[in-house]
Amino acid sequence: MSAAATSANRVTVRAPAKINLELRVGPRRDDGYHDLATVFHAVSLYDEVTLTPSDDWGCTVIGPYAGSVPEGADNLALQAALLLAERVGDVEPVHVEIAKEIPVAGGMAGGSADAAAVLIGCDELWRLDTDRSLIEELAGLLGSDVNFALTGGTAIGSGRGERVAPVLGRGRYHWVLVISDDQLPTSAVYAECDRLRGESTVATPEHSAPMMTALRSGNARLLGEVMTNDLQAAALSLLPSLREVIDAGLEYGALGGVVSGSGPTVAFLVDGAEGSLDLAVALTASGVAHEVKRAVGPVHGAHVVPDLRT
Ligand code: C5P
Repeated sequence: MSAAATSANRVTVRAPAKINLELRVGPRRDDGYHDLATVFHAVSLYDEVTLTPSDDWGCTVIGPYAGSVPEGADNLALQAALLLAERVGDVEPVHVEIAKEIPVAGGMAGGSADAAAVLIGCDELWRLDTDRSLIEELAGLLGSDVNFALTGGTAIGSGRGERVAPVLGRGRYHWVLVISDDQLPTSAVYAECDRLRGESTVATPEHSAPMMTALRSGNARLLGEVMTNDLQAAALSLLPSLREVIDAGLEYGALGGVVSGSGPTVAFLVDGAEGSLDLAVALTASGVAHEVKRAVGPVHGAHVVPDLRT
């Protein structure tokens, strides 16, 4: 990481939200998690995390979603700083400030993005040059989506999501994200998925060949046809109003639409920047969506940015 991007005593890292282009969920494991075959895709919606040396460990959240994020020991970003400190030893405490733009409990891995940002940022602030394998190990301990927030782009996820490998795809895609007023805790959606499946046998999840073909082609229309999410039925069961959102987006011309991860954010793939503006306007005007964001993907994973306040 470039020293030029760092002020003397402060580091700012930007980390992207993710959507899942494909999310196939296996049976519940003995440890409570589920094996996944997923395709992560980083989109241009970012949290910005600023790390400042401090007398005490602490965390502040600012931005539109600030009220719904814990600032104490429950905050995953603060946990990331403490975990790295515990592993490397002899570092000064930091204050973590999160400028939050990624919806909270929205299925876009905002908390994981913040944790990834802290791992990168503390490494820079403390001038550790930590081995990438240790960063990845800690990311996996912090949460299933943290490694992807480090990687960004478009990537295959396996295991419980923490094993990530980049996909050699092409294309730049335009997205309209419908943000829900409600939140869905990830664990509740997985539990609902198990409940809906009941006693039925669930196959080991595998990535689909049509998804890989679509990503290689860079053809948005093809990609729109093959997007899929095994958690969607569970998210709809917990929040039935999402059905109306999905139906409206497809009716207004989206190439495809899925609940993102465990929801309740709905991600619509659209045809270019103009298509994204048209859909955002149509969804808002119809009253189906109150909060809509436009984004492109893929974008880079967590990275240090110049601190413009210096
Ligand atoms: O790993 P993370 O902390 O993000 O997971 C939150 C919750 O989501 C877990 O406690 C678990 O209930 C559920 N989960 C799961 N299988 C996964 C990922 C998450 O059951 N692969």
